Amino acid sequence: MSSEKISTRSFDPSRKIIVAIDGPSGAGKSTIARHLARHFGLLNLETGAMYRAFALKALRAALPLDDRSGLERLANETTIRLEAGGQEPGEKENRVLLDGEDVTALLRNQTVTDAASRVSVFPAIRSWMVRLQQQLAAGGGVVMEGRDIGTVVFPHAEVKIFLDAAPEVRGLRRFDQLGSPPAVQPEEVIRDLRARDERDRNRADSPLKPAPDAVLLDSTHMTLEQAVEAAEAIVAAKLGQPPSRA
Ligand code: DC
Repeated sequence: MSSEKISTRSFDPSRKIIVAIDGPSGAGKSTIARHLARHFGLLNLETGAMYRAFALKALRAALPLDDRSGLERLANETTIRLEAGGQEPGEKENRVLLDGEDVTALLRNQTVTDAASRVSVFPAIRSWMVRLQQQLAAGGGVVMEGRDIGTVVFPHAEVKIFLDAAPEVRGLRRFDQLGSPPAVQPEEVIRDLRARDERDRNRADSPLKPAPDAVLLDSTHMTLEQAVEAAEAIVAAKLGQPPSRA
């Protein structure tokens, strides 16, 4: 659980705000966070990637994903670094270093996705991650997305958005993002997503839920572009800026 210094790119120090975006899988968090970061000149930090990196390590170690003390021991000998992605088109992803190895490209498959939801239920794993995330954003000027950013990591964030959408809509968005031809049916994607939702929303420690002062944004009946616009308007209103879109 090394908390060595985390490197981030430089950003405009005059913008110190923290924008917390929470919500379930497929709600559009990443797209929206990326846009807000670019638009408002903030760092974009995707915390799910950190849980995914640790899950990858547990899978590689062939550790049962319900072995709490084994996972805690493993965490004690693990270093995870998250580097903010660039704000230019084509530079969109965060980079994740697991014990110095760039594992960014290995984190999006279904096995790691499922494992990340399982290892993230354990309080010791969560408090390690929360500490790292608080260090990462200590200077402000970030959009941070996850499940517990507005409730636990930054309960005093200036802007909190809780993004949601019906599970079927989120599942179909995920399905559309799969390569073609997809190896699974849409129903399977929706079923997996519901199972993850269930775990993320019902775990004892820091369950996924809106902070009391979060603005709720339900994109069930919106295109992602409309959701992006709505999120931008929420942040602009908090910053006291007029809406910028034509
Ligand atoms: O956002 P994501 O799909 O990459 O997240 C993967 C898993 O990590 C998710 O199922 C729950 C967990 N997670 C979490 O518990 N807290 C966060 N702040 C981010 C992710």
